[in-house]
Amino acid sequence: MVEYKSIVYEGVIGMKVETLEVIQGDYMLKDYAETAKTFQWKDAEKNFSWFETGKVNMAYEAIDRHVETDRKDKVALFYQDAVRKESYSYTDMKNQSNKAANVFKQYSNLLKGDRLFIFMPKSPELYFGLLGAVKMGVIVGPLFEAFMEGAVYDRLLDSEAKAIVTTPELLNRIPIDKLPNLETVFLVGDSVEETDKYIDFKKALESASTSFDIEWVDKEDGLILHYTSGSTGKPKGILHVHYAMVQHYQSMKWVMDIRDEDIYWCTADPGWVTGTSYGIFGPLLAGATSLVLGGRFSPDAWYSAIEEYKVSVWYSAPTAYRMLMGAGDSIVNQHDLSSLRHVLSVGEPLNPEVIKWGMQVFNKRIHDTWWMTETGAQMICNYGCMPIKPGSMGKPLPGITAAIIDNQGNVVAPYTMGNLVIKKGWPSMMRQIWNNKEKYEASFMNDDWYFSGDSASMDEDGYFWFQGRVDDVIMTSGERVGPFEVESKLLEHPAILEAGVIGKPDPIRGEIIKAFIALNEGYAPSDELKVEIQQFIKKGLSAHAAPREIEFKEKLPKTRSGKIMRRVLKAWELKLPPGDLSTMED
Ligand code: WT7
Repeated sequence: MVEYKSIVYEGVIGMKVETLEVIQGDYMLKDYAETAKTFQWKDAEKNFSWFETGKVNMAYEAIDRHVETDRKDKVALFYQDAVRKESYSYTDMKNQSNKAANVFKQYSNLLKGDRLFIFMPKSPELYFGLLGAVKMGVIVGPLFEAFMEGAVYDRLLDSEAKAIVTTPELLNRIPIDKLPNLETVFLVGDSVEETDKYIDFKKALESASTSFDIEWVDKEDGLILHYTSGSTGKPKGILHVHYAMVQHYQSMKWVMDIRDEDIYWCTADPGWVTGTSYGIFGPLLAGATSLVLGGRFSPDAWYSAIEEYKVSVWYSAPTAYRMLMGAGDSIVNQHDLSSLRHVLSVGEPLNPEVIKWGMQVFNKRIHDTWWMTETGAQMICNYGCMPIKPGSMGKPLPGITAAIIDNQGNVVAPYTMGNLVIKKGWPSMMRQIWNNKEKYEASFMNDDWYFSGDSASMDEDGYFWFQGRVDDVIMTSGERVGPFEVESKLLEHPAILEAGVIGKPDPIRGEIIKAFIALNEGYAPSDELKVEIQQFIKKGLSAHAAPREIEFKEKLPKTRSGKIMRRVLKAWELKLPPGDLSTMED
C-alpha cells in the first residue's frame, strides 16, 4: 500500500511549491541522496553473468540466464491483439529466439555486426526476431510500422541493411530494387510466396532447431540502431551497444521499481527507443513479466488490459495520459485499476494537471522520466522514495551527472535557463551516429558534456525543469519529427516552391506540425491542395510526420544564404516578436 500527501511550501523565490510526498511505501531505491553520493556503475556490473564468465550478449542476460533459475517457467511475455492472445515463458522465449537465430543463419548471410531491420506491427515474432538477431551479434534496426517508402529507404540505405523482417502488407513500402545491400526479406504472414530472397519466417521458425550457440561479443559491440530526427539533415542512426544493459537493468530497479511479482506494461512501440530499452531489454533483464498490447489506442482497451492482466507497473506517455484524461472519469470507474502500484511517464513534459488527475483516478503519482534516443536509458527521473514536484522531470539517476550550462560552457546558477547537458560516459550512451562521425563528435562539448538540445533549469533542491528544445525539433504526440525531413519531402511535391515546418503548441499532442508553404507559378491555394499535400506526406514519410495545419504564403522568411527561418515562422504563429532579423533577406 502506498500513501501520499500533498505539501505546499514557500519556495526560495517566493513561489508556492507543491510536492507530493510518500508517507508510506517501500521502494527498491531507498535513499536517493545517499545512493547518488556513493554509487558507481562498476558496482552494477556485478549483476551480470559476464562479470564472472567474461562472455557477453544482451540476449543471454535477458533470456537464457533466467532459464537456469526458477524463473524458467515464469511468463516473460503476455501478448494480446484483436486476434491473438498468447503467453510465453522464459523457456519459450529462449526456444523461440534460438529458432529465429537459426532461421537467420540458415537463410541469410548475416554475420556479427551486420544490420537486420524489423519493420512490422507488434507481434510475438517481432520479439523473437529481434532477440534472435541479438543472439547472433547482429545489429537490429527497428522501424515503426507507420513509416512509408521514403522513410524506410533512407534508413535501410544509410545503414546498408542486409536483411529485413516484415509483413507482406508492408512490402510495397520497401524499395528493394533501390537497396543494393538488401539480400534477404523474411516475411511474417499467412500465405507467403517463397523465393531465394523472400523467406516465410513463421514456416521457417516452425521447423528450426531450438538450440543455438550464442555469439559472444564485446561489451562495446553494436546492439541496436535507432534512427531519430535532428533539426538538420536526414534522420540519424543512433547506435547502442550491449553494455547498455547495465543502465537498463539498474533503472528498472530504481526508477520502475520492478519486483518479481509485478506485471509490467510499457505501452511504447519497439520502433522507438522506449519500446526496446524498456519494452524489451529492461524488463527481460530484470526477469519481469511484461504485457504487450497490439492494436490501436482506445481508453477502454487500455483500462481493460490493466484490469485483466492486473498490471502493477505502467510506463506510458503524456499524450496517452492526456487522451485518457479527456475520455472522462466515468470510463475509469467501469474498471478495477487497483492492481496499479507504480505509474510512470516519458516523452514530453508531464503537465501538473495530468499528475493531479492521476492522483484522483488511480490514487497514484505519475513519475515523470526524462531521457532521449541518444541517452539509451532513463537519465533524470522521479523516484518512488522522493517527493514529486509536479512539472519537474526529477533528479539525475544515481551515477549520472546532469547540469545546466550557458553557451560558453559555464554551469549556471539555480533557476537560470540554459542547455541541459550530461557528463559523458554513462553505460547506455550512444556510441556512434551511423556514418557520421562529425555529427557524433559535435554532440559533445570539449569531449566532456553531451548536449541534449533541450533547455531547462535546475532548482535549489536539484530538481530539473524542462523548458523546450533549443533546436527546431518537433515533439508531436511523443514522437520526434525533424522539420528538415518533412520540408524536404514537401519540396518533392510539384506544387511546392518553398516550405517551412514548425511545431505549434497543442493541448493534447504537445505540439502539432504546421507547414508554411509558398507555391510554384501556376498553382493556387485551396483546401483540396492542402489535403493533397497532407496525403503526400502521409504516403511518402509517415502519418505522424504529416502537417495537421498548412498555411500558404507568397514568400517565406529566409536568411541571405537561403535558409528558411523557422524561428520567424514560429513567431508569426505565436504572435511574438520575431527577434533579430539582421540575417534575413529583403
Ligand atoms: C526528446 C527526446 C526516450 C524517450 C522518448 C523520446 C523530449 C523526453 C521528456 C520529459 C520533457 C521530454 C525532450 C527530449 N522529452 N522526455 N520527461 N519531459 N521532455 O525520445 O524521440 O529521442 O526525444 O523528447 O525534448 O530531447 P526521443
